Amino acid sequence: MTVTKNQPREFQIGEITSPVIDRIEAIAKNVPGWSPVDQLYTLFNLAYLTTDVRGDIVEIGSWCGRSTAVLGMAARMIGNTKVHSIDLFPEKNDWKQNKDGSYSLEVELDGVKYRGYQDQNVWREPFEKDIAPIYAKYNSVLEVFNETLSRYDLRNFVIPFRGDSQHFGASVGIDFRCKLAFIDGDHSYDAVCLDIRNVQKFMAAGGWICFDDAFSSYDGVNRAIKDCVINNPAFDMGRQMTRKFFVARKKREG
Ligand SMILES: C[S@@+](CC[C@H](N)C(=O)[O-])C[C@H]1O[C@@H](n2cnc3c(N)ncnc32)[C@H](O)[C@@H]1O
Repeated sequence: MTVTKNQPREFQIGEITSPVIDRIEAIAKNVPGWSPVDQLYTLFNLAYLTTDVRGDIVEIGSWCGRSTAVLGMAARMIGNTKVHSIDLFPEKNDWKQNKDGSYSLEVELDGVKYRGYQDQNVWREPFEKDIAPIYAKYNSVLEVFNETLSRYDLRNFVIPFRGDSQHFGASVGIDFRCKLAFIDGDHSYDAVCLDIRNVQKFMAAGGWICFDDAFSSYDGVNRAIKDCVINNPAFDMGRQMTRKFFVARKKREG
């Protein structure tokens, strides 16, 4: 009997046959965030089906790592793929309350000020319900994000980047390619257009772009998708996949 030879194979079968949806349900239960299971499962499938496309996965807007954990799980299964998680990862004092009670962000990194939620503010009620409780326990969202990576053993597959998509684009080499970009950062028209233009520069032919909160309640997101993706001949296969996810494919050349 060749026990040692069979053991890794048995282990592999267990890994392969354990349902991905169970893991996604656990992530949705354990990691603070907004994306429900159906969105996360769609995101996982999209990532998993990019196996044959060149490049890494880029996420803009990671918060505590809920969508990141799902993308990281897909990256681990695909192999040879990293997830680059771009976020301002705000600390408690980076949030400023506006006159109408809503909140905006201002994060200073290496002397440069990055602003978020200036046009599309975070409304008071969701801030108090979902954001304030995080800062009751942690000073920085990055601490929670790193805990999520450790909890799901994803430190070798996910690279956090503190900054915005412009800053990230300037930091990668000209050979950098992305097979999937997930956009869930600042939801104003200008910010979403900027994120699309920045990721389009390094998207692989045949790569996918996926938006959260599309064609639901954010006018800026909808207009940005219409102007920069639907009316952009560089993309095809545009489709609203769930109640909130819009996806499109960067055309293959030729
Ligand atoms: C809706 S949350 C992301 C939720 C996350 N995808 C999840 O699954 O829980 C939006 C995130 O975008 C980040 N953000 C806001 N403005 C940004 C900007 N200009 N660049 C990068 N990240 C930004 C915020 O810090 C916040 O973490």
